[in-house]
Order: sequence, then structure tokens, then C-alpha cells
Amino acid sequence: MESSKHNLIEIFQTEDGSKSLLRKDIGESYHSHFGALTETNTIYIDYGFRYFCCLDNKEQVNVLEIGFGTGLNAIATLKNSNQRKIFYQTIELYPIAQSIAENLSYGEQLSLKEEFNLIHKCNWEEVVEITPDFKIKKCEADACSYDLPKDFFDVVYFDAFSPEKDSDLWSEDMFSKVYDSLKKRGVLTTYCCKGEIKRRMKKVGFSIAKLPGPKGKREILRAEKK
Ligand SMILES: C[S@@+](CC[C@H](N)C(=O)[O-])C[C@H]1O[C@@H](n2cnc3c(N)ncnc32)[C@H](O)[C@@H]1O
Repeated sequence: MESSKHNLIEIFQTEDGSKSLLRKDIGESYHSHFGALTETNTIYIDYGFRYFCCLDNKEQVNVLEIGFGTGLNAIATLKNSNQRKIFYQTIELYPIAQSIAENLSYGEQLSLKEEFNLIHKCNWEEVVEITPDFKIKKCEADACSYDLPKDFFDVVYFDAFSPEKDSDLWSEDMFSKVYDSLKKRGVLTTYCCKGEIKRRMKKVGFSIAKLPGPKGKREILRAEKK
């Protein structure tokens, strides 16, 4: 895929009132048109982060996100941290401009304006404390070739562009790397529910469940390292 130019990115309003971005050059939106915040809350927070927290009461939860994009998943995780300590690592190949991030208004919407700004402004490649309970490390890199630590993450948000546009990210090799980076009982969620993607995940060892998606998406996937 071509490198992103900021003038190829457009902000649009989704049906639940939250905003999202469209990459005009490849025709891919960062979230569902039916609701960016609804998608994040259902697929990544409820089915991923909160599900894991119900299974395991450990004090610190390590989250990996493939595709930082707008930072919505990061700020929504902070919002739902519920007294857990969170280490949040996110990998992004095409960071968006600060001016675009500010226009998304997620900080205002979630009453975490300062924290959202800090998440966007903080340095890449460094572990930064956003609150005493939330640390983030943003990595500007191609997730396909990024070396992930082994047996480290509890939760993975697999939020890449679609397999049609970013096929390498949805490959068996990539899933195998992500599987190895998860601890036992770790959980991955993604909006994509295609049969071929499910088969690849199963092949590398994941147990898969299909769950009802948010509006506009019949089913989504949760994969677990059992
Ligand atoms: C569907 S968007 C979702 C972004 C984000 N989770 C959000 O809520 O805004 C996919 C993201 O993956 C990023 N991306 C595309 N190819 C990538 C790659 N090879 N490695 C890392 N990130 C990539 C895109 O730039 C985009 O920000």
C-alpha cells in the first residue's frame, strides 16, 4: 500500500455521532459508518478487554493494538480501565496529523480531552505515562515485520484495514506471530469474520468464537489462546 498523505484523509460523521476517517486513496474507512465509538466499545472493549478482565483479575493488563489510527481504541481502553493498570502498545505505519486527531473530538466525547491529546502528542517508540494507571508505547512501524515480545500480551485488538487492502497483515505468518506474543488465555478480537481468516487463525492455534456484531456487522471474531 502507498504511504498515507494527510490530504488523502477525510473526516466523516458516523451514525452514532462519533467521527471517523476515510483514506480516500484506497477507499477504506477507519471504522464502520454505523458508529465508530459503538464499534470500538462492542468489538474491542466489551468482547476483548472487558471479557479478558472478567476471566482474569490480574492487576496489570497488557494490550496490543494493530493499527493505532485515530487513537479511539486507546482512549476507550483508558476510559474502561476500571482500576486495572494498563500497558498499551500500538503499531501504526501511517500516523495521522495532530490537526486531524484534534478534529475527531473523541477526548471531549469521552470527557478525557487532556488524556486524548497527550496520547497523540507523546513521543513514538517510548513508554509514556498518560495517567498513573495507563502507559502507552506507540510504535511507528510495519506490523508485518515488527518483532513482538513472546508470551507478553493479554489482549490484542486486531484492527487493520481489510484483508483485501492489507493482505500481509491477515496472513498466517502474522497470526502466528501475534499468537506467540499472547500469554496463555490471551484474547484477540477483530471486526473481520471471513471464513479464510478464521481458518488461518485456527491453523496457528487459536480457538475461535463468532459473536454478534454491532449494527451493520452480523458477526465478529474472538480468538483465544487456550
Ligand atoms: C481500520 S484502521 C483502524 C485504526 C484504529 N484502530 C482506529 O480506531 O482508528 C487501520 C489502521 O492500520 C494502519 N495500518 C495499515 N497498514 C499497516 C501496517 N502494515 N502496519 C501497521 N499499521 C498499519 C492504518 O494506517 C490505519 O491506521
